[in-house]
Parts: sequence; structure tokens; C-alpha cells
Amino acid sequence: MPKRRAAITAVGHFVPETILSNADLEKMVDTTDEWIRTRTGISERRILKDGATSDLGAAAVRDLLSKRGIGPDEIDMIIVATVTPDMFFPSTACLIQEKVGAKKAWGFDVSAACSGFLFALMTGAQFIENGSYKRVVVVGADKMSSITDYTDRNNCILFGDASAAVLLEPSDDENGGIIDHILRCDGSGERYLNMRGGGSLNPASHETVDKGMHYLFQDGKSVFKVAVKGMADVSAEIVERNGLTGAQVDWLVPHQANLRIIDATAERMGLEPSKVMININKYGNTTAATIPLCLSEWWMDGKLRKGQTLVLAAFGAGYTWGSVLMRWTAGNRG
Ligand code: UT7
Repeated sequence: MPKRRAAITAVGHFVPETILSNADLEKMVDTTDEWIRTRTGISERRILKDGATSDLGAAAVRDLLSKRGIGPDEIDMIIVATVTPDMFFPSTACLIQEKVGAKKAWGFDVSAACSGFLFALMTGAQFIENGSYKRVVVVGADKMSSITDYTDRNNCILFGDASAAVLLEPSDDENGGIIDHILRCDGSGERYLNMRGGGSLNPASHETVDKGMHYLFQDGKSVFKVAVKGMADVSAEIVERNGLTGAQVDWLVPHQANLRIIDATAERMGLEPSKVMININKYGNTTAATIPLCLSEWWMDGKLRKGQTLVLAAFGAGYTWGSVLMRWTAGNRG
């Protein structure tokens, strides 16, 4: 019997209205539009003024449900990838479950930073593949503005707020859905990308606040070097080990941290730039949301079509990184 595959059958997303442009940042820190665009590829990002990550996530799930034409009580499970949960507990998955009215669903959060969506996607896929559930919602949502220090020019130019969600269902096409994955972590990267304040290591205190330990810290240059290699390695490996060439891949869907990292990954895979999903210019790095946000926009624009072969790839704090190979099965839109 062929293996039961999990497939994405619908995607939804939400981006807040408020735009923080490079020109706005020029007034806040010592930077220029030119520096930001040439070093990162970012022109603007979105900021959620009111509300929290669960509000971002719930909006994406509602969009997803309307596109699939099902009700919230038809969801079996909600998995949320985020590094900006509303609070340590309860999980953001519980808060989204309540907000959307998914009365029959259970769920939990996954913490894998910028690789969070891929880690959550593969976790959800297991429940579909083993026959436990029929409808698993995987959300990538981050309110990065809540942990960004807007006096630190190294980092405040990079991040934005957004969410996106996918619905996983058993594939009715035996060649469709999620085909393969490579997921990795290396905790020695902790010192280069972290948020040390507020956890059990450094519980919240006046001192942790005074030292800015509740903000994201990143040694960008160190992360850049390993991210370029890590993302390119797993993207090339997943293509090769499935007997494919770059020519047979329709879309690379990369985590949007830096345009230069994305370009290096595409080049290593032998992909033309026209086959790479890029929206970092509009949204910056939205951490767990970047990959499903690309899927959602490209699907709604009618550019992501049934039967196409996709490689999803990410690199983030941990370090965590990985790639997923899939064949798109959701009905065409746009
Ligand atoms: O998503 C999770 C994984 N994260 C990543 O993949 C991010 C990886 N890192 C990066 O994307 C890049 O390292 C950054 C975009 C963060 C930085 O780019 P860079 O080319 O590595 O720049 P740099 O840190 O080496 O800084 C170069 C110069 C420095 O000045 P000096 O020391 O050469 O005089 C910085 O102080 O640029 C300066 N600089 C800035 N200048 C204007 C740093 N930030 C800014 C800024 N505006 N915003």
C-alpha cells in the first residue's frame, strides 16, 4: 500500500496595516534606506499596533478556513510555531483555538525560531500520515516588534510582524503532498542568536530589563556565515537525494532573513531567480511566518499551481535549520 501523505490543502495569512519603512527607521537610528536595501533586501515591514501573536495567528486561521470552506469545529489540531508567544503559558495554540472557536481541536506550540514553521509542519504531518487526524492546522506567527530594540540599528531594521497558516489533510493524490524532509539543530549556536531575559536562566528583574535582555540579540555576521551554508546544504541535499535537479524544482520557498542568503541558496541549487519566492522587501523577517506567508501570497496570485514541486528551506536560532520537499496539491486560485 502506498504511504499516506500529508498535503497542504489551503493557506491563509494576515499582515497588520501599519507599515514601518526604511525612511521611518532613518529617523529612529543611524541608518540609511540604501544600506538596508543593499545589505538585506528589505524596504518595509509591518507592525501590529494592538494585540498579540494569538491575534495575528487567529486572523490567519480564519482566512485559511474561509478559503477551504470549512468551519472551525472541523479542525482536529492546531500547532503554532512562534518565538513571541502571548505569554509563557498557556500556549498560543490554546489562545488561537479559543479565538477561532475550534471546539474539537487540541494543540501546542513549537519553539524553533525561524525554522519553526518547518518543524511544526513536519510534526503535524506525522499525525496525518499515521491516520490519527484528518485536519491539522499549522500556524507560523510572530510579533517580532514585541522583542525588538528600536535603538539597536543592527537588528531593528530586520524584523516585522505577520502570520500565516496552512491546513494539512491526507493527500488524495499518491504523488502529491509532503515527500521528504531534513531537519537539524545545533545548540552551540545559542550564543549568536537568543533572547536571554525572562526565562528560568534569567528570570525577569529590574536588572534584566535595564540590560535589555528581553530583546532579541543577534551577532548578525556570525549567523550570516552559518545560515548561508546551512540553508544551501539542506536545500541541495534534499533535491539530490530525491533524484531531482534544480530544473525539476518549480519553487524555492526560503525563509526571508536576508536576500543575500536566499540568492546563495538558489545559486547552489542551480535555480533561476524567477523560481524563488521573495517578499522580504515588503515584510522583512517575520520569523515563523515567512515561509507560509510566501505560500499564501503566491497561491492567491495563481503563481503556485497544482502539481508543482517545491523546496521549503529555513535557518534560525538554536541553531535550527531544515528543508522540506513537497508537491503542491491545493486547487488553483487566481
Ligand atoms: O532569521 C534568523 C537568521 N538570521 C539571519 O540569517 C541573519 C543573518 N545576518 C545578516 O543578515 C547580516 O549579517 C545583517 C543584515 C544582520 C548585517 O549585514 P552585514 O553585511 O553582516 O553587516 P555587518 O554586521 O558586518 O556590519 C557592517 C557595517 C558595520 O560597520 P563597520 O563596523 O564596518 O564600521 C556596522 O556597524 O555596517 C554597520 N551597520 C549599519 N550601518 C547602517 C550595522 N547595521 C547598520 C544599519 N545601518 N542598520
